[in-house]
Amino acid sequence: MPKRPTRLIIDTDGGIDDALALILALRSPEVEVVGVSTVSGNVRVEQAAINALRVIELFDHRDIWVAQGLGNPLIRDPIRATSFHGTDGLGDSNLPQPRMRTRKESAIDLIVDQLNKEKDHGLTIVCIGPLTNIAAVLTNSPNISGRIGELLIMGGAFGLSRHGYGNVTPVAEFNIYSDPEAAKIVFESGIRVRAVGLDVTSAPENWLTSAEYSRVKATKNGVSVFATRILANTMQKRHMFELHDPIAVGAVIQPSLYHFIERSVKIETKGEYTTGMTVTERREEADNIWTENPIKICTNLKSQRFKRLFLGHLLKN
Ligand code: RIB
Ligand code: CA
Repeated sequence: MPKRPTRLIIDTDGGIDDALALILALRSPEVEVVGVSTVSGNVRVEQAAINALRVIELFDHRDIWVAQGLGNPLIRDPIRATSFHGTDGLGDSNLPQPRMRTRKESAIDLIVDQLNKEKDHGLTIVCIGPLTNIAAVLTNSPNISGRIGELLIMGGAFGLSRHGYGNVTPVAEFNIYSDPEAAKIVFESGIRVRAVGLDVTSAPENWLTSAEYSRVKATKNGVSVFATRILANTMQKRHMFELHDPIAVGAVIQPSLYHFIERSVKIETKGEYTTGMTVTERREEADNIWTENPIKICTNLKSQRFKRLFLGHLLKN
């Protein structure tokens, strides 16, 4: 009996890797995207919605709702990553405006409605941006957490590999640093969390290489032409690209490629130098007051198998 696809909501902040992650999910039969919520992060929440619609239009998936969530972190001013992702979030690729429109309802309300409608508690929320929306869902609807099957989070730097350092500060990763108060609510909620952090996504063996980009560029189908356009500027400058968000969504598509360990994590929200840090008990056997509520943290990825999955879906007609 073939396994039914895992039903997903993807919560995105509209960057280049977000778009690639959405493409991977939409082309993978192992998952079914039911909705896309956007959040302030790489770009403004409105721009993240435009970018999500641009991807969904590639597949003419009119059955997937797209809605805007919160336009600012819970209490802090937003930080942007437009220097990296471009002013439009998609590599300043000047893509046409989408024809599809977002839903009028707030994504916060649509996420709660979707969770309440799900027959079994199997809905996974893939969080590839700051956790502002998820924290708002949990705060506004405290009883909803029992209806979330899993949170798969791209975020954090857990010090569990030699790449497990921050990308905004030496200790803080962008999605967590952008809204540490939201991350604290989510990480300490007791919901089943699997986190894919910079420990794995920053490893050079998991970067998109120039040679792989050339294969995408040489392939002339709608998806590969779109991917070529959004990656063009960054690949011309850096000759590589970190696939943070596609690697995260891959953990739902093919979990056997990933290794996770359980560790306790606290989110720093008050440190002068450590705000946004995912402070991790890294020892396997530790007897201290932190050992409650551990989360699963990714420490290894079968890189070549992941690349085959990712590029296979990018290149196929
Ligand atoms: O630190 C990487 C994460 O921050 C990715 O999700 C990227 O898109 C940005 O949101
Ligand atoms: Ca992102």
